[in-house]
Amino acid sequence: MVQKNEEYIVDIIDNGIDGEGIAKVDGYTLFINGTIKGEKVKALVLKANNTFGFAKALELIEKSPDREEPICPAYNRCGGCTLQHMSYEAQMRFKEEKVKKTLSKFLDSGTSFKSLNGVEFEPVIGMGIPYNYRNKAQYPCQNGKIGFYSPRTHSLVENDNCLIQDEEADRLAKYAFKVLTDLGNDCYDEKEKTGILRHIMTRVGKNSGEQMLVVITNSKELNNKEEFIKELTTKFPNLKSIVQNINEKDTNIIMGKKCITLYGKDYIVDTLGDYKFKISPLSFYQVNPVQTEALYNAAIDMAELKENVTAFDLYCGIGTIATFLSAKCKKVYGVEIVPEAIEDAKENTLLNGIDNIEFRCGAAEEVIPKMYEKEGIKADVVFVDPPRKGCDQVLLDTIVKMSPKKLVYISCNVATLGRDLQYLTQNGFELLKVQPVDMFPQTAHCESVCALKLR
Ligand SMILES: C[S@@+](CC[C@H](N)C(=O)[O-])C[C@H]1O[C@@H](n2cnc3c(N)ncnc32)[C@H](O)[C@@H]1O
Repeated sequence: MVQKNEEYIVDIIDNGIDGEGIAKVDGYTLFINGTIKGEKVKALVLKANNTFGFAKALELIEKSPDREEPICPAYNRCGGCTLQHMSYEAQMRFKEEKVKKTLSKFLDSGTSFKSLNGVEFEPVIGMGIPYNYRNKAQYPCQNGKIGFYSPRTHSLVENDNCLIQDEEADRLAKYAFKVLTDLGNDCYDEKEKTGILRHIMTRVGKNSGEQMLVVITNSKELNNKEEFIKELTTKFPNLKSIVQNINEKDTNIIMGKKCITLYGKDYIVDTLGDYKFKISPLSFYQVNPVQTEALYNAAIDMAELKENVTAFDLYCGIGTIATFLSAKCKKVYGVEIVPEAIEDAKENTLLNGIDNIEFRCGAAEEVIPKMYEKEGIKADVVFVDPPRKGCDQVLLDTIVKMSPKKLVYISCNVATLGRDLQYLTQNGFELLKVQPVDMFPQTAHCESVCALKLR
């Protein structure tokens, strides 16, 4: 039986869903972060449960040709990136395999599906320069420091220059933190429930250059706001919006519901393709705009739209997909649960001179059954882009009843995607195509777009 603190020489036989290396010791599974399939390592067991345990690689005995030296000095401590030790080509191969393996597991166990045979599985769309791609960062503030949490903890890791964030926004956050603390604003202490600063959030329009800074505080209190605003706007001329967000709750949710605009606009504008989008602090906006365009284009191509169709954009955020669809459809309906995002979405139609989209605010699983059953509104093509937990069962049931000719499913979590595809393929739909898109280089996350048609 494998015991804590014992050392073993093991072969890494696979990489798990989060990129972790997997080894076996007499049938007992060890998960070893930072190792790559094909490597041989000396590992120290850190935790041993009954059937599996966690170990740390002490020595690399045989290295994978896919191994690369991580360029971030905080990589081994920070919880942000998990694949920087792999070449970018290997990261893409890993993601493609992860999507394929997970989907075939779900679809093989379904009665209507025997394998991914017959489904067009496209190679992952990767990024030319897979660094500094993020347009949004949320930095915890703790004990006089700003940084990121180490994996599965609230211990702070400082990092002078995060390599996946926008470079200037990264500097903006750190400078804002220094000025705020110099002006007498202490960090919030989670145990004592004292102090002011909880997080600093930055958002940048990668195409427009506009920057937003959100200071997340534990109460309304924020000292010396005027000096803070003057200092920041002098140093960062592209800073178009400074917002204070108040989060009085004792949970892991970063932002509260209340926003106070301290300077400039209460939103920034960015462009995607030919369109402009207004984005406010509480609205969702895809974090990697280069890959977002590739994702949306792939999704819209998959729908093979004809001009006179009605489309639904469900989980629509600020209406980006609906906007891209508007030129190709007779009518588009967008549904989203966050009221601020729907406000942005409505203004975005005005900003882009579009008059064939109607937005509704509410849970898709409540709004769509009402639209379909009570108002008789039906879609020819449905796009869904749910959060990580996937689609609600009531929504899937309504889509099955409504029977749109085409369904395009965009997902950031292949496990819930597999679950929902299993249901859909057992209930009248056929899966035609899967296109993974690398929205989150250096991490194990992968976005996928799937095309389904009514059988
Ligand atoms: C992955 S984002 C996609 C947003 C948008 N399609 C885009 O590309 O920017 C998921 C969105 O679903 C929204 N959401 C979460 N649960 C929802 C629900 N039950 N009904 C409708 N929208 C929901 C979130 O607020 C978020 O805006």
